Amino acid sequence: MRQPLVVGNWKMHGSRASVASLLDSLVAAQRLSGAEVAVCPSHVHIAQAVERCAGTQIAVGGQDCSHAEEGAYTGDVAAAMLADLGCRWVIVGHSERRQYYGESDALVAAKASAAVSVGLQPIICVGETRAQREANEAEAVVAAQIQGALQAQEDLAGLVIAYEPVWAIGTGLTASPEQAQQMHAYIRSLLEGIANVDAQTTRILYGGSVKPGNASELFAGEDIDGALVGGASLVADDFRAILECAARQR
Ligand code: PGA
Repeated sequence: MRQPLVVGNWKMHGSRASVASLLDSLVAAQRLSGAEVAVCPSHVHIAQAVERCAGTQIAVGGQDCSHAEEGAYTGDVAAAMLADLGCRWVIVGHSERRQYYGESDALVAAKASAAVSVGLQPIICVGETRAQREANEAEAVVAAQIQGALQAQEDLAGLVIAYEPVWAIGTGLTASPEQAQQMHAYIRSLLEGIANVDAQTTRILYGGSVKPGNASELFAGEDIDGALVGGASLVADDFRAILECAARQR
């Protein structure tokens, strides 16, 4: 049985004050949910989030990490730094990183491996663009991303995959529950073929305009084990409602 997992990706949003008030609301609400929950603030708000979430069910993660262990990489944050602050998770390969910073599958693989080596659980994001879906290339694109990120890994402890169709991120468009379930089942079949991965216990999250109004129908999919939530994770009531949908899933 896979425990549902809901992760908030706060992207480049927030101030100390807004982070404090959002976390206050989530901490007050967290006991209501039977799902596992994590929030990924910007790097500069991680210490604040870890402190506020100490002793609660809410785990904290980074939105990205360097592929390198340490060194002259101005502006980068090492996986070990996130672990040292108290993070449990780190998102790698988000489509915004792939799109705006040209991150390749090889770099995503190196970041995932850097994360695992310091005990962080990587959330590896994959997903096709609208043009790729319209050209019937969605499965081929996702397969290449999964294989590129996972194939050469020796250790993938705690791995989570997030399927986030690029055309559904922040657009208000969502994959239909059927489209999402179909891709999740396909991803699970790909995981079956990868060494060091237990496909049946690996959680596969859906991401892309998940809201309280569409979460239940998405979570009904057999292979949909929770969500990576952007916009709605910045609104405490919405994130809490999504968590409740996930907790009811199993
Ligand atoms: P969204 O973002 O929920 O705002 O579409 C999801 C994500 O990018 O992780």
